[in-house]
Amino acid sequence: MSTAVQPKGATASTAPVDFLPLQGTDYVEFYVGNAKQAAHYYRTAFGFQPLAYAGPETGMRDRASYALRQQKLTFVFTTPLHETGPIADHVRRHGDGVKFLALRVDDATSAWNETTRRGGRSYMEPTRIQDDHGACVLSGIHTYGETVHLFVERKDYKGAFLPGYRPWSTPYFQTPETGLKYVDHCVGNVGWNQMNTWVSFYEDVMGFRNILSFDDNDISTEYSALMSKVMSNGNGFVKFPINEPAEGKKKSQVEEYLEFYNGEGVQHVALATDDIVRTVRDLRNRGVEFLQVPPSYYDDLLSRVGAIDESIDPLRELGVLVDRDDEGYLLQIFTKPVEDRPTLFFEIIQRKGAKSFGKGNFKALFEAIEREQATRGNL
Ligand code: FE2
Repeated sequence: MSTAVQPKGATASTAPVDFLPLQGTDYVEFYVGNAKQAAHYYRTAFGFQPLAYAGPETGMRDRASYALRQQKLTFVFTTPLHETGPIADHVRRHGDGVKFLALRVDDATSAWNETTRRGGRSYMEPTRIQDDHGACVLSGIHTYGETVHLFVERKDYKGAFLPGYRPWSTPYFQTPETGLKYVDHCVGNVGWNQMNTWVSFYEDVMGFRNILSFDDNDISTEYSALMSKVMSNGNGFVKFPINEPAEGKKKSQVEEYLEFYNGEGVQHVALATDDIVRTVRDLRNRGVEFLQVPPSYYDDLLSRVGAIDESIDPLRELGVLVDRDDEGYLLQIFTKPVEDRPTLFFEIIQRKGAKSFGKGNFKALFEAIEREQATRGNL
């Protein structure tokens, strides 16, 4: 990790100064083939609320973007309006997928300066955009694949989402929220032997730390070997696990992703809830499809994880997984891919003290993924 620079006037201290202070995830933007229909799916199935719209009617000639919100979660779905251009190229190569993991900062100019002078490749120089509701500063750097980290400075902005968007509301029907609250972590899949490149990127360019590592001894099933390292920023608000495929008997889940996404990209976004049973039941009733583990997973659950507050029956009924670490336990479940390509999916997670990622569930989970891969003929 590079040495942090002391701000002017600071006294020498053994604690490094965080050169990239992050307030959390600002939004996740997806490039998709049909943003109007994607927005409808995330409203009806996931319970997001209409927030803001940008398109030809607001002066955006090449795209349409729909911003949706639920608690602290903001998703944006953007589609190209023409055959050519970077958005159309992205959709053609990758299908629907995450383009921007946007991070909230107090100073987007400093964020860009600090990261680019440490080797970050610029996507967008600090750019001030404004409308009648104030001004935002955006900047950005590239990360793995064609994914971008935008830095969003919005302390002087009072509008619905960003300048260029207009508030979006619809009188047609209500889509009650499902209890999803914020982004817990976002996982990237990178190519063979690329793990250390990206670990170094997050350490050197963004000042993150590697807080957990899993190797192929921890997480190989018969086929689906992978390695994973969890990168966290200084205050722990932003966590980016990174997966790399490992040699297995047959094609691993990361390889399947890389083949169908046509390169590196975001594998899953984990969404936090305070009541996973309620949230998952609601999502399931609205048509969200989840991976299922065998009923035997629950037979010796309590002997594996100890006492938990929840009763086992609804967890078994819904397929919710449980894991424990030194600090507490967590409940989690994974959707099937939310596109026809076997690429991006979501995790729903409820943390009860645990700060880890469910290592105890990897085997049951990966066997469930392999069963799905086999039905696609990709194992
Ligand atoms: Fe996860």
